[in-house]
Formats: sequence, C-alpha cells, structure tokens
Amino acid sequence: MKITAESSMARFSEKFKISREFTEKCRKKVPNGYSRQTFNYGPHAIFVDHGDGAYIYTIDGHKLLDLNNNFSVSILGHNNPAINNAIKDVLPKGFSLGNPMKYESKLAEIICSRIESVEKVKFSCSASESCISAARIARGYTGKTKIAKMEGGYHGFIEDLCVSAHPDPSMAGPDDRPVPMADSGGINSYIVENTIILPQNDLAACEKILRENAADIACLFMELQSGAGGIVVLDQEFVKGIRALTEELGIVLIFDETITLRINYHGMQSLYGVKPDLTIMGKIIGGGLPLGAVGGKAEILEVLEKGIVGISGTHHGNNLAAAAGIACLEVMDEAAYDRLNGLAKRIKDELNAWSNRKNYPFMVYGEGSYIAYAFTDKNGRQITTHRDFWRYANNDAILIFALEAATRGFFPVHRGQLALSTPMTDEDIDSFIATTKEIVDGILKN
Ligand SMILES: Cc1ncc(COP(=O)(O)O)c(C=O)c1O
Repeated sequence: MKITAESSMARFSEKFKISREFTEKCRKKVPNGYSRQTFNYGPHAIFVDHGDGAYIYTIDGHKLLDLNNNFSVSILGHNNPAINNAIKDVLPKGFSLGNPMKYESKLAEIICSRIESVEKVKFSCSASESCISAARIARGYTGKTKIAKMEGGYHGFIEDLCVSAHPDPSMAGPDDRPVPMADSGGINSYIVENTIILPQNDLAACEKILRENAADIACLFMELQSGAGGIVVLDQEFVKGIRALTEELGIVLIFDETITLRINYHGMQSLYGVKPDLTIMGKIIGGGLPLGAVGGKAEILEVLEKGIVGISGTHHGNNLAAAAGIACLEVMDEAAYDRLNGLAKRIKDELNAWSNRKNYPFMVYGEGSYIAYAFTDKNGRQITTHRDFWRYANNDAILIFALEAATRGFFPVHRGQLALSTPMTDEDIDSFIATTKEIVDGILKN
C-alpha cells in the first residue's frame, strides 16, 4: 500500500498516543509543550522516559533505535558508564564552585592535542554562546564589524548569526549574490544589514563578494559539512580557496565544527588539510552536558588575555560538563571513530546501491557518522548547495519517512539527518537498512 502523509500522521499519533496527550498537557505551561524547538515536527513530539545504549524508551512504552542522538550530541548513546562515572566523581566535590578546577584545562589539552589548528580553548555553555564569543573576538582582533557566512549555514540561534540559515527562496536573491535574510522575527535589521551571505561551493562568486566587502568583514563562519541548514559537504578546492582569500584579506576564518567534530578524531578540517584561525566546538565535547568552546590561534585569543575583549559567563567551563566531555573524548579514540564511520558507510553504500538499481530518486549522503537521506527529483541528483534543497528536495517525503520510521522502531528526526552512536550493533544497522527499503518502496509506489 502506498504510504501517504495522512496515513503516516495517523499511524504516528496512534502509536505515540500518550506522547500526544502529554504534548497537549505540557502546552498549557511551556510554549509548544517543550523547549527543544528542533524536536517540534510532525503532529507532536515523542516524549521519552529514558535512554539506554543505542535506544530511547518512550512514555508510550516503545523502544526506538535513536538515530538522532540529540542532533549528534550523544555519540556514545545513552547511559554510558564512562560518562556517568565521571559525573559521579565530580558530584560530591561540588560542581558550581566558580573557582577553576582541573577539568576544563584537561579537556582543553585533549582538544589541542587532536586538532592541529587549536592552540588554546575558551569554554562556554553552548556552541551558540561560543559563536557569539568568536564573533566578538574576531571584531576585537581585526577592528572590523561585519560577519560573513554561508547561505544555509547554521551557527546557533544567536542574533549575530541568525541570518540566511533557512531563507525564503522567493526573496533570497540570485544564486551568486544571496541577499541576507533574518531567520526569525525579532532580529534587528542592523544585524541583517551587517551580514554578508556567501554561496556554498562557488569560489568565484565568494571571491567577488569578499573582495568588495573586505574592509568591513571581521570574520567568516562556515561549516565544512553543514548540518541544521541541511547537509551540504563543501568541496576541498572551494575550502582551500576560501582559506587563501581570507588570509589575504585579513578576515578571521572560523570553522564551525559543532557537529563535524564527530566525523574525525582530528576534526573534519584535517580531512581538508586546511587550518582555520578559530574553531567552534560543542555537542560531543560536553559528553551530553551543556558545553561549547571556541579554540584556535593563541595570537588571536590573546585579545581575551590583554583585556581587549571581555567574555564572561557564570557557568563557563562548567566542571561537570568538562568532566563528562573528557570521558566522552577518551572513549572516542581513533578506533571508535573508524568503527562508527564504518557503520555509516555501510548504510550509505547499501542503500545507494539498492536505490540506484531501482532508479529511485532517493539517496543517503554525507561524511562520517552524521549523514542524511533525501528524496529528490531524480536518481543521482547531487546536493551541492543549500539552494539544491529548495529546487530538488521532496520535503514531504522526507517528513513522511521520519514519521514512518518512528512507528517502525527507529527515531530519525525531520530534515533527513541521522547521527549514529557507538553502542549500535551490526544488527541495528541491518534492521535500519531493511526498514528504510520498506518505507522508501511504500512512499515511491505509484
Ligand atoms: C554547526 C552548529 N553550530 C552551532 C550550533 C549551536 O549549538 P547549541 O544549540 O548547542 O548552542 C549548532 C546546533 O545545532 C550547530 O549545528
């Protein structure tokens, strides 16, 4: 039987009936029923009782393989003993002392030893906060004011960067000269006016825009593989070209590796052989607790030491989060990265070979253990810019897939993104591949 949006929604709401009722109840006191906005998709959220290993257990009594892992945070899955023990060790010592403890400097040492471009690290409570910090550091260092970023790039919900992550296609301007657009109501117009938007993977267009605005641009934020704005992997030559240009034009180049740190032990930047000036980190570095960081060249971070730029937060460098982050990164040695990336490669290879044989407009793509599925207009379609999604992605099918997967025991969130975790077994991956085939067959049936 062909799967439709209506049949999927109905099955989803029936299976997660208690979650639906709970959403209604919680809406009375919390806008939308819960604060984690990104889980606001489909008819209602799935409320979870607990997570264990690769699975989450819903309040409706269902066990789902977690293929979202809090949008890539929970790389060790849930209830991991190494992280739990690290937290338990800190608890009796006190965790909100204000005075520094040993944890953040140890975490900084681990990060610096893995990511070649990172000489020093300043911690905050989230990647969003660290993006604010990086923008301020870059402005303080260069004396310039404007921020450049890629269209479709997401760098948190903050004022400075909440521009053109998800622009309205009808108002976003030409491909080679995107117009900056606020991603939300309530963003001051001067923020939008002071943001320069660049097209992904078009070096000639970027060069033109960067040269015209070089005197004003303090920094350029980019993800090597964009995440929340839709998965787009940047070309190596493009990234190298951007590095050369920013160096020449005195623009601080910032790689946002909030998600992509889970792709490679040395950061995704090591796959490109390109060193940014600053790197944003988050998600896995806190082992599931709130932690963000900006790291990079000591010479740039000196603006903090000289008092040129001030950044202060009550919970910055939080000890519990830093201890959990140390435990998480220690488990994530190079072998753990290889195994996890191998599981993702199997999903990609097997499903793409199957889809190509069937000539389906469906594909799985992306690097490392953060990958995406997409329904497009034809088999073999490449997604190389954010605008390719507007033109070719079938968002209805992507949403139906997510709802269908949930009713069949898998939790992938909307936007077609999947983040794997280390407790996943070969059997988990086999059953996801088999279920994906069933769902895609059902959606694409005439
Ligand atoms: C690339 C990137 N940067 C920054 C952020 C903001 O992170 P946080 O929500 O932890 O502040 C995100 C969140 O998804 C992200 O994907």
